[in-house]
Amino acid sequence: MELVITGLRLEAEGVLGVELQDHARGVLPAFRPGAHVDVSFPNGLTRQYSIVSSADDRARYWLGIGLAPNSRGGSKFAHEELRLGTRLQIGEPRALFGLDETAAGHLFIAGGIGITPILSMLRRCIATGAPWRLMYCVRSRRNAAYLEQLAPLTEQVLLHSDDEHAGRPDIESFIREMPQGWNVYTCGPGPMMDAVCSSAAALGVAEGAVHLERFRADAPTMASQSQEFHVRLLRHGGTFAVPQDASILDVLEANGVCLPSACREGLCRSCEVPLVSGEADHRDFVLSDVERDANRSILICVSRAKCSELVLDV
Ligand code: FES
Repeated sequence: MELVITGLRLEAEGVLGVELQDHARGVLPAFRPGAHVDVSFPNGLTRQYSIVSSADDRARYWLGIGLAPNSRGGSKFAHEELRLGTRLQIGEPRALFGLDETAAGHLFIAGGIGITPILSMLRRCIATGAPWRLMYCVRSRRNAAYLEQLAPLTEQVLLHSDDEHAGRPDIESFIREMPQGWNVYTCGPGPMMDAVCSSAAALGVAEGAVHLERFRADAPTMASQSQEFHVRLLRHGGTFAVPQDASILDVLEANGVCLPSACREGLCRSCEVPLVSGEADHRDFVLSDVERDANRSILICVSRAKCSELVLDV
């Protein structure tokens, strides 16, 4: 859909808030709190950004766009080039990360721009009266987006600012004090999310009660142990070699087979294709363990093969 920018504001240093509406002020598609949309910029790049506004407000989506330090053109373009009235192509909202509303309560641990998907989930908790707490870890208050909106919620929000608090945030204690039956949600830098997962596991929190969303591929996905393998396309036809230093997606595109993709980092699922045979080496950040074990699909922007040939239903 094509939406128009109707609001721009600096939410914190390096965080741009972008309000999008239908040009005829129509109702926008519903979304689950925690959802994101694909945003296609006029420079040809497509990136995913979380919707921070309330899922009950169908008149607009507010997005929070953090300026990535080594931006390859997505967030840099947004911060430098977007203007009121700019029209952008926006994908349907997709939720790979969301509230489990059957849980007794919700414990959120956000780092930096990772607050964005969590904010719409908090709004949902407030609207429904579900209990929740938030640990919000930032480098400094200057970089902490949405602090004003969180200010009235001091009882539930624990702010850890690196320049005000010595040491690392005590994630383990925060999880330990969580009431029985709550779920844990985390989004932020990879090491912080790894700490959340390991603390939760050490404290006996069930794996299914821990939810996370990665914004960037923090682990190397094209690891040095990559081997060359082949992909065979069942419907299109043809067999292609995938060298050590290229993805399946790169190879197919180079051979004129164009398939959907967006993040190209194993984060969004837009490149997922059915797998007919062969064992995938899943290197994405979004498939569940059950989906990995089932081996029925593969995200071709990052995943590879544990065998000599994969056959794709493409
Ligand atoms: S393009 Fe996003 S997961 Fe592959």
